This record gives sequence, structure tokens and C-alpha cells, in this order.
Amino acid sequence: MRKIYIFDTTLRDGEQSPGVNLNTREKVEIAHQLEKLGVDRMEAGFPAASPGDLAAVNAVARAVKDVTVIGLSRSREQDIDAVREALIGAQDPCIHIFLATSPIHRKHKLRMDKEQVLETAQSALRYARKYFSKIEFSLEDAGRTEYDFIAQMVGMAIKEGASVVNIPDTVGYLNPSEYGAIFKFVKENVPDVEKIQLSAHCHNDLGMATANTLAAIQNGADQIEGTINGIGERAGNTAIEEVAMALATRQSFFNATTSLQLSEIARTSRLVSKLTGMVVPGNKAIVGANAFAHESGIHQDGMLKEKTTYEIMTPESIGLKESKLVLGKHSGRHAFREKLIDLGYELDDLQVNEAFAKFKDLADKKKEVSDDDLLALIEEKLIDT
Ligand code: KIV
Ligand code: ZN
Repeated sequence: MRKIYIFDTTLRDGEQSPGVNLNTREKVEIAHQLEKLGVDRMEAGFPAASPGDLAAVNAVARAVKDVTVIGLSRSREQDIDAVREALIGAQDPCIHIFLATSPIHRKHKLRMDKEQVLETAQSALRYARKYFSKIEFSLEDAGRTEYDFIAQMVGMAIKEGASVVNIPDTVGYLNPSEYGAIFKFVKENVPDVEKIQLSAHCHNDLGMATANTLAAIQNGADQIEGTINGIGERAGNTAIEEVAMALATRQSFFNATTSLQLSEIARTSRLVSKLTGMVVPGNKAIVGANAFAHESGIHQDGMLKEKTTYEIMTPESIGLKESKLVLGKHSGRHAFREKLIDLGYELDDLQVNEAFAKFKDLADKKKEVSDDDLLALIEEKLIDT
């Protein structure tokens, strides 16, 4: 089974979600929880962005022990110096240098030709090599870059001593077969590629970040980058919990695993949501409030007979107590009766039928019938009879 390294960027790309601003204390609290979750690497911030971010990265670097701590840097000496300062005290520091490679970015943003891009990245890597033994290099917007230029840039990064080379789909443009094909191409065409780890970094603009990341794994990616709850620029980044649970649930299909403590997923998701203020949608895969909730009578009946009828993974596996059978207008008699038993009422068939009819009337008027609603309904019914 291949191990896939988890590079968490909740504290950097995740914090780039519009409206999110984590202070040092909050970053350290999340970092401790990410350590418990078992991520291999965490990108704590972009030290050159502000003195506050530099201080926060430094606090994270000093606080966590068993994780590689990473600081982001443009291909500039001042940024590299800021990362050096921010990572003082880190047990296992790593710098993450990036430069855009696509024709669109070269022309409009960088105003550089290919040669200039190559040289700029090369001199940044040479400078960083003096201070760091672990370097990741990212080809920003690799997803829209010519294959031959990707190969040239990856080859250069290997020669200049990068230990990880990241091939991001920065704007979430590709589909899984296209993204997977880039990894296959790089694996097959770049000399010495086996000396480095290849990393996948996807954005979710078309809702394909997780699928693209899994395609990269199938085509040889050694590391995946993402955030908790999928937060990040625009529509966000790959949600780490989704990739981890896809690998765990379909282990024989992917033949790959992570070192994550999966039972810490729910707790990590709640903490990130609370501190960033980014509410997790109810239907979000794995960590949404409805991910293990069942409302329809047919599904609830199946669940009461055998949980694997409607659940492909258990709530316990991500650290939740149990699945929820939510009572609403689609619910059936079986779940209704079980709920009454849970609440301490053993009614005979006739009483259940009468109470069930009242419940359906109420359910037509409410989105969800709560325990208190049911208690009121049963008490009223018992008083009537
Ligand atoms: O999306 C992206 O390309 C990035 C880089 C900085 C790696 O976040
Ligand atoms: Zn990104």
C-alpha cells in the first residue's frame, strides 16, 4: 500500500478564503489539532504577507513538534528571508517557493517569457538552498501550462535541489483525466523524477478538486495538498477529509493510504469552522450535518435493519457518535416507533398508529420534528386516551 503524504494548507490557502482572518492564538490552536489529526506537513502561512502572519507562522513553528512546518514564499529573496525568520525554532522547517508558469500568467501577471521564468525560479531555489534542506517548488497555474514547459520547470527544480515539486490546478480548470495525465507525463518524461515527491494541489472552481486529486494519486502523486472543510480562495481547495475518506473507504481500488487519525476528522472540522467562521454546508461530504443523517422512511427502515444499506462509511470512523434518523414528512412507522422507544414510550400497535397519524400532520407543517415535538404529541395523545 502506497503512503500518500498530507500537506495541509488550512492556515495559508484556507486562510485566503475571503473574510477569514486567523490570529496567532487561533492558528496555534488549529495547528495543534492538525497535529492530532496526523497531517505530515502543514503550511502555516505566508510570512512576507504581513508582520502578523510572520509572527503567527513562528508561533506555529515553535508550538508543533511532529509535523513539518512550511512557510510560503514568492521567488524573491526578501520572501525567502521572511520564511527563514518565521521558521526559527521549527523542528522540521520547509520553504515553499512558487512561480507562475502558464502563458496567461507569464504574459499578463509576470510579464516574463519562459526563459525569465526559468531563471527567476532557478535563482530563488539557489538562494533558498543556502538556508533550507527541505524545499517545495510549485509551478503556479501548472494546469494551464504547456507540457514541455512543465517538464522543463520540474527538471530545473530537481536539479536545484527541491525535495517536492507541486503541480497545482490553481484555478480549478481541469477535469480528472486531464489532471491525471499531467502527472503521468511528468513521471514518464522528466529525468530523475524519482528523486523528488510530486504533489497535487487543486482548487474547486468546477467542483472537481477531490476527483482531480484522486486522479493525481492514481497517476503517481506522492503528496496531496488541501484544507479542512475545503476552505480556500474562491470556491476553495481540495477537502482533505474527502480524499482521506475516499482512500480509506475504497482502499482496494486506490491501494493507497494516509497516516491520518481519521477519528479526529469531525473534531478538526468543527474547530476550523468555529475559528474561521466558515459554516460547513449541511450536505458537505463527510463533515456536513447531514452526511450521516437519514430522513426518508425507506432509508430509515434500511438503516434500522442493516446500516450498510445506506452508509458506505461509519460516523464513528470520523469521530462522530452515531448516525441520525431525522423525523420529517418522509419518515416511516419503523423509525417513528424506534424513536418513541428511545424516548421511553412502549406503545401498542393501535396507539402507535394514532400517534403516527398526528406526527404526519405535524411533519407536513415543519421541516424537522424534534424530540420535544414528539414528547408533546405523545403526552397530548396519552391525556386524550
Ligand atoms: O493554487 C496555487 O497555485 C497555490 C500556490 C501558491 C501553490 O496556492
Ligand atoms: Zn492554492
